Amino acid sequence: MKTRPTKLSHIVETQYISDEAGLCIVEAERAVPFDIKRVYYIFDVDNAAIRGKHAHKKTKQSLFCIRGSVKVTLDNGNEKEIIHLDKPNEGIYLDTLMWHEMHDFSADAVLLVFASEHYEEEDYIRSYDEFKNYLKTV
Ligand code: TYD
Repeated sequence: MKTRPTKLSHIVETQYISDEAGLCIVEAERAVPFDIKRVYYIFDVDNAAIRGKHAHKKTKQSLFCIRGSVKVTLDNGNEKEIIHLDKPNEGIYLDTLMWHEMHDFSADAVLLVFASEHYEEEDYIRSYDEFKNYLKTV
């Protein structure tokens, strides 16, 4: 497992075994730097859809586009970065308090997400203004 820094986060390259099949391994506290409490996946995404548009107070996540491709815009309140995920063995780590938007999904895209917390709507900051104000309090 290798990681490489990006401007606002890091990409993790999972263990990838390729013989007559592709096999990627994601282990908690290794490829994903937390204990996994929740897994969800996004697929059949409308061409023009922009998902995310929020930040989390407590939840950390790692996103893997295991089929197709997607762009992820990260925004820490000061700087933005666009990450292109298009390999099943590469994921982006999403820390707390990182505004994120997922867009430009290919028709076949499947985005697999590992999260450090169970779902709780109170953990979301869904307004960008509220996000900017919240950053001033931490
Ligand atoms: P949301 O997290 O906004 O999706 P995305 O990040 O893909 O834009 O969630 C969309 C809806 O699904 C919202 O009503 C909350 C609900 N939801 C759950 O009930 N549990 C979950 O684990 C997730 C991720 C979403």
